[in-house]
This record gives sequence, structure tokens and C-alpha cells, in this order.
Amino acid sequence: MYSFEASKFLAAELLIVGAITSSVSAQNSSTCAGVSDACTSLSAHFGDQILFPTSANYSAENLNYWDVRSSDLASTCMFLPTTADQVATAVALFNQCGAEFSVRGGGHMNFPGSNNIDDGILLAFDQMTSITVNTEASTVDVSPGNRWVDVYQALNATGAYAIGGRLKTIGVAGLALIGGHHYWNNKYGFAMDNVVNYEVVLGNGTQVSANNATNHDLFWALKGGANNFGIVTKFTMKTHQVPLISTTALTYSEEQFGGDIGAGFFNTISLNITTGVVSARIAGTQEGTESPPSRFANFTAIGPVSSSTNVMPPVTWHGALKTSDQFARVQFQSKTMTPDAARLIEIYQAWKASVTQAADVEGLQPTFVLNVISASGAKVGNNNGVGNVWGLEEKNLIIWQLSNGWVNQADDLRVTNWAKNFVDYHHSINQASSLASEFLYMGDIGENQNPFLGMPLANVQRMREVRSAYDPAGVFSNLNWGGFKLGH
Ligand SMILES: *[C@@H]1O[C@H](CO)[C@@H](O)[C@H](O)[C@H]1NC(C)=O
Ligand SMILES: *[C@@H]1O[C@H](CO)[C@@H](O)[C@H](O)[C@H]1NC(C)=O
Ligand SMILES: *[C@@H]1O[C@H](CO)[C@@H](O)[C@H](O)[C@H]1NC(C)=O
Ligand SMILES: *[C@@H]1O[C@H](CO)[C@@H](O)[C@H](O)[C@H]1NC(C)=O
Ligand SMILES: *[C@@H]1O[C@H](CO)[C@@H](O)[C@H](O)[C@H]1NC(C)=O
Ligand SMILES: *[C@@H]1O[C@H](CO)[C@@H](O)[C@H](O)[C@H]1NC(C)=O
Ligand SMILES: *[C@@H]1O[C@H](CO)[C@@H](O)[C@H](O)[C@H]1NC(C)=O
Repeated sequence: MYSFEASKFLAAELLIVGAITSSVSAQNSSTCAGVSDACTSLSAHFGDQILFPTSANYSAENLNYWDVRSSDLASTCMFLPTTADQVATAVALFNQCGAEFSVRGGGHMNFPGSNNIDDGILLAFDQMTSITVNTEASTVDVSPGNRWVDVYQALNATGAYAIGGRLKTIGVAGLALIGGHHYWNNKYGFAMDNVVNYEVVLGNGTQVSANNATNHDLFWALKGGANNFGIVTKFTMKTHQVPLISTTALTYSEEQFGGDIGAGFFNTISLNITTGVVSARIAGTQEGTESPPSRFANFTAIGPVSSSTNVMPPVTWHGALKTSDQFARVQFQSKTMTPDAARLIEIYQAWKASVTQAADVEGLQPTFVLNVISASGAKVGNNNGVGNVWGLEEKNLIIWQLSNGWVNQADDLRVTNWAKNFVDYHHSINQASSLASEFLYMGDIGENQNPFLGMPLANVQRMREVRSAYDPAGVFSNLNWGGFKLGH
């Protein structure tokens, strides 16, 4: 659906932009050359929606990241659009000027450059935070500047719930575009499987809708294909009537490991590097009000050292799972495997032994994280008439992940290389014993991993065709920094 009104608006804006750039580069009145011209044009046109490094607001905005590493980068200017038309104008301008840019939704992805940029333009969605609940249609329209807790809060009054992020501050746009772990993927699929319409700004500034009936190929590609095709300015998500959920938070001491440690939805094993004490935590939720939640009976039977069960509205649970901005320098590394308790324990033991080698890294917070992908969860995407780019086989998988936090930039390479070597080595053992899956979840991997290598080749080729059709100039491949790019 090409919007005629938007195109007129865009043409008018570009005339203005052209007039501004002519005074900047007098030699060629039609040329806008690069980032600094683009910042100047935006500034003349959008005033205080453009922030330069000299302003206090710029400094505050540049701290608005979960991973401290993202704040090391410094854009030439930031643009805070308020409408999709403004996003379209900006993208058309970036294209015209050949200006490199990056896009930030919630700022949670810990891949420096996925949501910030050196010497380019940051398009930050802070001011696009509308949420519209469509009670009759059982959907919710969400602008890309929201975090998931905002969505749960907006739905709370009607007793509805959406399939999105588990932690309070995870952003809507990034999570929905890369897949999206939620507690209940086993029944409802991933966040991406719950999006019924995307409003998208393409590389030439055109705005289109992508849904089951319109631009179906783009609709498919946006389900896991990340930021390779356009900028989504509105997500319409399915909602489910679930006013209350049953929750459990279980903590285990290390002596209790040895059973089914991989079977929880969200299981973090933290090692205190100072004391050497390890503790495991399962955070689980179950649909409905049966408390304690029966699906966790086998975990409860282990006899956790502490346990807390409750019944509450979803927003209350998610709102308590805080992760602060500027948490630490934080890096992920992960692989996927068939569930195998003995092998997982072996990897865990090796991790514990290996982590002591990095014990002198200041502020090291090493965590071993397990996430589950269930066969039934893969089936949701495969059976809904659209699919998604993952094309997963319908079998149970476990993502095993190292998540490391630390303090000093000087340790970046050391921590990253240690984690990468560890994960690659243990994955190779899994490969040799046919326990490995090559699937890589974008939300749990490091910037040195390539998730497209873990997808069916036919899906990667199809994504490239979609990219050629919707972004022939390669704006999102050549000018847009960040995240996991499809490559050629
Ligand atoms: C002026 O800009 C246009 C469009 O970018 C380009 O084709 C042309 O070569 C430029 N002319 C000069 C003299 O730089
Ligand atoms: C700048 O910061 C002030 C104070 O936080 C805020 O009121 C204002 O809206 C900000 N302006 C922009 C453009 O972000
Ligand atoms: C959520 O809705 C319930 C039921 O209407 C209400 O009791 C509760 O205060 C709401 N919670 C929040 C955080 O708004
Ligand atoms: C590790 O344990 C010590 C002693 O209990 C505590 O002071 C410290 O905060 C812990 N470190 C972390 C990262 O939790
Ligand atoms: C507990 O474990 C047993 C043995 O693996 C299994 O058959 C049963 O379904 C599990 N119960 C739950 C509630 O998951
Ligand atoms: C999407 O369209 C296909 C065929 O065009 C149809 O089979 C399928 O049911 C539709 N799915 C939804 C969710 O509307
Ligand atoms: C923008 O690109 C789309 C996708 O390639 C194309 O359909 C559309 O016609 C283009 N719009 C303009 C104004 O060139």
C-alpha cells in the first residue's frame, strides 16, 4: 500500500532539504554529501529534534543503552523523530546524502554499532511511544520506541497480554525483529510469530504495510530477518486474554545440580568470582492461576534453597525483572544443542573451571544461561500460513550461552575471545557427538557470530530476493550500521 499523501509530503520535504543543502555545498546545488550535510539539513528542518554532541540531551541520550560498550560510540548527530513521515523523510535524506546511520528502539542489544554509530546519524525512537489497544480485534498497535513493559502496562486494564520480552526494559522493535523469547513460546510461538502487520519505511522513503495479504514476502522476511529490509514504524501484535499468570522464582545451590538443569524456560547460573559461590535461578511463568504452577513440579521437587510463587497480572511480574541502562560492559556468546543433561553438566563444569582464568578481570560477572526452544514453539511459526526466516525443525533445543559483564574497555577483547574460544570448542564437541544444532538466536549471540549461517540456505536466498525487491539501492546494507546484516 503506497501512500500518496506520504509521497507528496516527502517530495515537499526533499525540496526543502535540497534548498538547505545547496547553501552548504555551493559547488553542486543538488548534492548533499555525507553525514554532516545530512545533520545540517535535519537541524534546519526539525530544530530541537536534532541533538549535537555539545548538548546535555545528547550526553543523556548516549547513556541510554544497556551495554556500556554502546555508549563508547559517538554519532555526529541524533535525530528523534515523532512520526513515521519524519522517519521516511530522514531515510530518503540519508539515501540522497549517502549518510551512514543507525537506529535505536529500546537500546538493549549488546552489539556495539547495532544501535549507535561513530561519525554517522543515530535515529532514536524515544519520541515514538504510542500504544493503541484494539480490544475487538485482539491486537495492539505499538510504536517502535516502546519497551515491552509499556505494552504489558497498556494491556493490563483489559486483561490482555502480548508475546514479547521477559525483562522489563527490553525494547519492542529489536526483540520483535529478531525473534523474541517469551515464557510461552511453546504455545504462542515467538514474538515475531505474533506480529500481524508491520508499517515499514523503505530505503527510498516510501512507506508500505506488510501483512498476510499485502507485501507478503516482506511480511515473512521481517519475521526474524532483523534490520535488513526497512525501518518498522508500527507493529500490530496479536493479544491474548490472560489477566493473571502464575509465577515461580526458584533458586538452587550448586550441590543440587546434577538433574534436569536445562529444562527451565529461563535459567541463569551465576558465579560470584570473588567467593566462588555458584547459584542457579529459574524464573518461570504459567498461564492461568494454578499456584504453584504445575509445569514446574519437577523443578520444585529438587528442593530449591529458596522459592517464591505468586499469582499476578503479567505487568507486575515483568515490571519487577529490571535490567538497568548502563548495566556493565556486556557480551554474549551462545550455541544451540539437543537437550542432553550429562553433556550440559559437562559444559557447565568446564565453564566453571575456565572462568577462573579470567578472575582478575575487574568486575567480571560471569553467567551461564539456558533458554529452551520447544518443538511445539517451532510448530506455531511453521503452521500459521506465513512461517518465519528460521525455518526450524520441530524438535526441542537448548540455547546455552555465556553472558559476561565487566568494567574496563581494556578487557573487551580478552573477555570476548575467552568466551568465543570456550563456546566454539564445546560446540565442536557437540558436533562430533551429533548433539549440535547450527541455529543461532540473534538475541543471545555475540557480534562475532553469524546467525544467517544457522538458517536454511533457501530462506537466506529468499531474504536476499526480498531485500533486492524492497531496497534495491542497498540503503539498509550499505548505509545502515548494525546488528546482523544479511551479507551477499
Ligand atoms: C552533482 O550531483 C549529482 C547528483 O549527485 C551528480 O550526478 C553530479 O555529478 C554532481 N556534479 C558535480 C559537478 O559534482
Ligand atoms: C531535553 O531534555 C529535557 C530535560 O530532560 C527535556 O525536557 C527535553 O524534552 C529534551 N529535549 C529533547 C529534544 O530531547
Ligand atoms: C493491573 O490490572 C489490575 C486489574 O485491573 C489492577 O488491580 C492492577 O493494579 C493493575 N496493575 C498495574 C501495574 O497497573
Ligand atoms: C560476591 O559475593 C560478595 C560477598 O558475599 C558480595 O559482596 C558481592 O556483591 C558478590 N558479587 C556479585 C557480583 O554479586
Ligand atoms: C517430570 O518428569 C517426568 C520424568 O521425566 C516427566 O514424565 C513428567 O512429565 C515431568 N512433569 C512435568 C510436570 O513436567
Ligand atoms: C494468510 O494467507 C494464507 C493464504 O493467502 C492463508 O492460508 C492463511 O490462513 C492466512 N493466515 C492468516 C493468519 O490470516
Ligand atoms: C521505492 O521502492 C519501492 C520498492 O523497491 C518501490 O516499489 C517504489 O516504487 C519506490 N518508490 C519511489 C518513489 O521510487
